[in-house]
Amino acid sequence: NPIKAPSFVLGCTDSLWNMDFESGVRTGACCPPAAKELEMDYKFPTTGETRIRQPVHRASPEYIQKFKDAMQKMKALPDDDPCSFKNQAKVHCAYCNNSYTQMASGYPEKVLQVHYSWLFFPFHRWSLYFFERILGDLIEDKTFGLPYWNWDNPAGMEIPAVFEDEGRSNPLYNSYRNVNHLRPAVIDLDYQMKERNLSPLDQVQVNLCIMNRQMKRNASDPTSFFGGEYVAGDNPISSVGSIEAGCHTAVHRWVGDPRTPNDEDLGNFYSAAYDPLFYVHHANVDRMWTLWKGLGGEGRKEPNDKNWEEASYVFYDENRKPVRVYNKHCVNLEDLKYEYEDSETPWKSNPP
Ligand code: C2O
Repeated sequence: NPIKAPSFVLGCTDSLWNMDFESGVRTGACCPPAAKELEMDYKFPTTGETRIRQPVHRASPEYIQKFKDAMQKMKALPDDDPCSFKNQAKVHCAYCNNSYTQMASGYPEKVLQVHYSWLFFPFHRWSLYFFERILGDLIEDKTFGLPYWNWDNPAGMEIPAVFEDEGRSNPLYNSYRNVNHLRPAVIDLDYQMKERNLSPLDQVQVNLCIMNRQMKRNASDPTSFFGGEYVAGDNPISSVGSIEAGCHTAVHRWVGDPRTPNDEDLGNFYSAAYDPLFYVHHANVDRMWTLWKGLGGEGRKEPNDKNWEEASYVFYDENRKPVRVYNKHCVNLEDLKYEYEDSETPWKSNPP
């Protein structure tokens, strides 16, 4: 049977919390506010324009200002509002740090984990979908699209400037980042917690090879790209897809702050979504799914398996309603009404 996340009414418990993080800089209590009603299956709104997601480094100052305004408003929402920034971060933690069990699919003694398997891409796609819609609502712009951190392109291989400028008054700023990796440091898409000390040009080349490997050479079938099967009754498994295991995790670790106890924020699942960079990072991860399918070939499609298609999660939508969403409904961007603005992908032909 497919993994089915429990409802927000009583499904979440912080007592399962892994005590290792007690001393972290963020709260280890990750349950979002309990819902007063049972969730409904999500229905796509019938109106609304397509949102365009563009690379952060190319976005106009006006656009960035909109993004900042929306984030500011989200951060100002009260803690008991499911749309608050804090609760958005908690939802991510709840789904990856043992706040949920598989009780809804009949295995209350097993924890539910959305990383390390084929749930990784669809779960994060849905979570960004609602995050983006909430931001758009806060600034009353229903066309607002989340920008993406274009780290696969040489022009985007550093922490985007707009996340660092103006310091603390900037809602995109976060003090828990590795200060040695701020601009102009070039990201290492294979970062293993050790500096490579390459020249910027060499690091860019290495990054392009890594992208080529994780998108093309080592990812020609659903399992190698999405990760392995994870169904009801399984212990969280470790059959990680190429992108999740590779550049995705490297970016998390590279930004996380080594001065904190658990590499907060980005360097640890429980705290990752407290850094606004998390969302633009994951927008690019999500874009990889689309680009990967665009590479063509027999095997480049979603898992053809009921247990993948019917797996489901619960989120709060932009109207604060708890909704249940399924993997099978997040496959077509036309349904989700957003698109990625093109950006060059030099890794496609790398190594030369
Ligand atoms: Cu849910 Cu990048 O992690």
